[in-house]
Amino acid sequence: KRQESIRNFSIIAHIDHGKSTLADRILQHTDTVSDREMQDQLLDSMDLERERGITIKLNAVELTYNAKDGNEYIFHLIDTPGHVDFTYEVSRSLAACEGAVLVVDAAQGIEAQTLANVYLAVDNDLEILPVINKIDLPAADPERVRGEIEEVIGIDATDAVLASAKAGIGIEEILEQIVENVPAPDGDLEAPLKALIFDSVYDSYRGVVLNVRVMDGVVKPGDVIQLMQNGKEYEVTEVGIFSPKTIARDFLMVGDVGYITASIKNIQDTQVGDTVTLANNPASEPLKGYRKMNPMVYCGLYPIDTSKYTDLREALERLQLNDSALEFEAETSQALGFGFRCGFLGLLHMDVIQERLEREFNLDLITTAPSVIYHVNKTNGEKIIVDNPADFPEPSMIDNVEEPFVKAQIMVPNEYVGAVMEISQRKRGEFVTMDYLDEYRVNVVYNIPLSEIVFDFFDKLKSGTKGYASLDYELIGYRTSNLVKMDILLNAENVDALSFIVHKDFSYERGKAIVDKLKKLIPRQQFEVPIQAAIGTKIVARTDIKALRKNVLAKCYGGDISRKRKLLEKQKDGKKRMKQIGSVEVPQEAFMAVLKMD
Ligand code: GTP
Repeated sequence: KRQESIRNFSIIAHIDHGKSTLADRILQHTDTVSDREMQDQLLDSMDLERERGITIKLNAVELTYNAKDGNEYIFHLIDTPGHVDFTYEVSRSLAACEGAVLVVDAAQGIEAQTLANVYLAVDNDLEILPVINKIDLPAADPERVRGEIEEVIGIDATDAVLASAKAGIGIEEILEQIVENVPAPDGDLEAPLKALIFDSVYDSYRGVVLNVRVMDGVVKPGDVIQLMQNGKEYEVTEVGIFSPKTIARDFLMVGDVGYITASIKNIQDTQVGDTVTLANNPASEPLKGYRKMNPMVYCGLYPIDTSKYTDLREALERLQLNDSALEFEAETSQALGFGFRCGFLGLLHMDVIQERLEREFNLDLITTAPSVIYHVNKTNGEKIIVDNPADFPEPSMIDNVEEPFVKAQIMVPNEYVGAVMEISQRKRGEFVTMDYLDEYRVNVVYNIPLSEIVFDFFDKLKSGTKGYASLDYELIGYRTSNLVKMDILLNAENVDALSFIVHKDFSYERGKAIVDKLKKLIPRQQFEVPIQAAIGTKIVARTDIKALRKNVLAKCYGGDISRKRKLLEKQKDGKKRMKQIGSVEVPQEAFMAVLKMD
């Protein structure tokens, strides 16, 4: 029976432990792609992913494997991202699987996201197959890592495959273990259709392409499907699989992972996590959906060219289709005009969205510094939720402010524990515990305000530990902190988009640092421009940008025309990222300055 020969699995790992490389090897080994077609990290289809070498969107591929038992198996391999921001995508793909290949780097051992991903796999009742990768590295210590897997994760690692995805070692063994240990999908072929939407993309020819895992029943072209969340009905035009290119099929049945198209034009109608059923024979209950992930950081996105406002809205809608964690709503800033307040899971998520907006949709944007969500209790008893520092009430109207705290797990070799503690303490962290993972490595736990993590915690951690620290965090709730809003005045004018929230104890220091930083970033004008940092009406720091003395071109004395042209072009380029605020031109970097102080 076909259903018994299906194996659905994901590969999970800490970032850079070799998931994508292993996925590539598996595709080659099963002749899913010919060597000629093979491109490194084939599954990472977006340019952005390939350039950064990280996986962002999950991808599902069908492949056939001829096992040693003489039978042919159908594998559905679902790739997952490894970064802390994309936990949501991981949980989406895991819900479509029965097993997970857990890749652990033989030199580095278990890292923070190894553990976070394992928890998600356990939550989804998946069979976990440990693989110790990169055994070709001189620093590899597979036996130590095997011990760690047993100690820290608590699963039997006796049969963990020793592999090198790079050198192609252990690939066959992994495939055999998948056949043997990952259960075939259960589910009922005769039952009414239930298919889980785990992703969806918009295609201008075919409309919305739903990526689904069929849990019960069959779906084929001509069927009328119903989306259970909103009851909308569509006639199926095509079903098929990814190999990794799309290949149309006559039907998708229980256990299959593939796509459905049905001329769905409205991208808002298809919610990831929703259940697809048949209109004339509907399932009685939808599948358990996904936990909705809530954004943790917010920032403003403004088109530099104000006429691009509608384009920006359309681009955000398009991206939101397969990224339900992305939130946005219209907002206006006195300084920047019309734009959107956008919510993201974390800084990498924010970065990726910005870059996609600029590259894929050709938009030039000004982005404001990210902010967390504050709970402000006003003196009149009202409680308000603020995700934009500009919306903070006057100091006299605030009784107290609560900010989100996270529990941060930092895994690090023991010689860096001191550095980790010092950095965490400086970031207002509260020590919780410290445990040895093995002889050399320690898991340090701190409660830290999320806003400090958003600022430059991870950068500091990386540089303080020579890159050895790994970080994972989860929200633990809100706590009262002594926070104030810092306003920035340019030429005596308050620039709302530059306001930020700061702990009172650091306010003078930060105020001073930001005005100095802005002085370096904002180009000189024809007149002197004072920069001030203020809390309420009180000025805490001030500096002046001196007036421009000479024309820049005056530097190019003599007739070196090419140099002159270069300079002019450079100025023009710079212009693209400038915003006129009052009579002062402010570059993009100024809005992010608060993130990169000291
Ligand atoms: P993300 O997709 O960013 O989460 O990373 P990933 O886990 O997919 O890692 P990826 O496959 O991109 O590999 C990360 C780096 O490790 C790359 O430079 C690979 O070439 C390298 N790498 C992967 N497997 C091996 C291996 O078996 N041996 C060695 N020496 N290097 C490997």
